[in-house]
Amino acid sequence: MLAVGCGGIGERHIRVLCNMEDVELSICDISEGLLEKLQKTYKISSIYSSWNNIDLEQFDIVVISTPAHLHISMINDALEANCHVLCEKPLSLSLDGIERAIALSHQKNKIVGVAYIYRSMPALSLLRERIVSGEIGDVKSVTFVVGSDYSFFRPDYKEIYYSDLNKGGGALYDAVSHMINYVEWCLGPTESIYCMARHLVLADVDVEDTVGCVLTFADSEAIGTLSLNQFQRAYGMMFEFAGTEGMLKFEGLSHSIGICREPHREFTWSEKMNLNRDEYHKLQFEKFFRSVDNHEPFICTLEDAEMTTRTILAAHESVRHRRPILVLDCARTS
Ligand SMILES: NC(=O)c1ccc[n+]([C@@H]2O[C@H](COP(=O)([O-])OP(=O)(O)OC[C@H]3O[C@@H](n4cnc5c(N)ncnc54)[C@H](O)[C@@H]3O)[C@@H](O)[C@H]2O)c1
Repeated sequence: MLAVGCGGIGERHIRVLCNMEDVELSICDISEGLLEKLQKTYKISSIYSSWNNIDLEQFDIVVISTPAHLHISMINDALEANCHVLCEKPLSLSLDGIERAIALSHQKNKIVGVAYIYRSMPALSLLRERIVSGEIGDVKSVTFVVGSDYSFFRPDYKEIYYSDLNKGGGALYDAVSHMINYVEWCLGPTESIYCMARHLVLADVDVEDTVGCVLTFADSEAIGTLSLNQFQRAYGMMFEFAGTEGMLKFEGLSHSIGICREPHREFTWSEKMNLNRDEYHKLQFEKFFRSVDNHEPFICTLEDAEMTTRTILAAHESVRHRRPILVLDCARTS
C-alpha cells in the first residue's frame, strides 16, 4: 500500500494505518526531510520523493492526501496501474478528468473512495439513518452553523494549500464541502445555491474565511441554510433538520443527537458519540478495506464526490456573480 502526501492529514493516515493489522506501507512526499522524519517514527517499507518515478503497479491500494489540485491526476495514474484508491476531499477543483476516473474505475473494476470523513462518524451516520427512515417525517428545513479558529488548528495555514484557491484553499473547498457532501448524502443532490463568501479575519491570506449560503435540493422541497466561519474563538458545530413530524439536531462537540417530536418540548439527547480524530479515520479505513474485499462501493463514491464538486463550483460562481446558481447549469459551463 502507498500513501502519497504526508502532511497534516497524510501523517494521521500513516499513524492510523501503521496501527492496523496486515498493512505494509510505503510513502511518497516531495519533502525529503519529512519522509526521513516519518521513516524514523513509523514502520515504513519504502520512501519516494517523486510520484512520477514510482512503479505504482507494485501496490494494491493508494491513499492520496496531497492538495486537491493534484487529486484527479493521481487517482487516474493509480487506476491505470490497477490500484484501488482512497482520496482525500475535496475530490477536485474542476470537473476535468472526473469522467475519466469514473470510467477507469469501472473498466478496471477498482474501488475509488473519497474521504469525506463525516460519512464515517458514528453519530452522523446514525443521524442520517434517522432522517432517511422518516423519523421526523419529510425534512423541510436544514440548518448548519459551524465555526472554529483555523489558525489554532493549522498555525502554518499561510504556507499550505489553504492560502491558495488554486490548490483547494479557502472555506468553500476546505470546510463547506464537508457540510454539502453530508447534506447531499441525507437529502440527495443540491439543485441550487446562493452563496456569499468573504475574506474577513484570517491574517495574511485573501481566501474566504466566512460563508453564508442558501440551498435547494433536486429531490426534496427542503431549504438549507449554512453559516460557517474559520476564525471564531469557540469551536461550534450544530446541524438541525426540521421535518413535518419532528426535529433532529447534531451537536458537534459531543457528537450527540437530539430529537423533539412534540411541539415546544425539550429535546431528548443521545449519549455522546465523539471519538478521538484518529478513531474516525480508522473507521474510514475499515469501511474502505471492506469495500475493496467485498467489491462493493465505498460509502462516498466518485459520483457522490463529483456531485459535491459541482455544488462547490456553483457556490464559487454564485459568489462571483452575486446571484443564485443552478448547480447543473453551472456544471455544464465550467
Ligand atoms: N478529511 C479531513 O478531515 C481532512 C483534514 C485535513 C485535510 N484534508 C484534505 O487533505 C488534503 C491535504 O491536506 P493537509 O492538511 O494534509 O495538507 P498539507 O499541506 O499539510 O500536506 C500536503 C502534503 O502533500 C505534499 N505534496 C504536495 N505536492 C506533492 C506531490 N506532487 N507529490 C507528493 N507529495 C506532495 C506536501 O509536501 C505536503 O506534505 C487537502 O485536500 C485537504 O483538504 C482533509
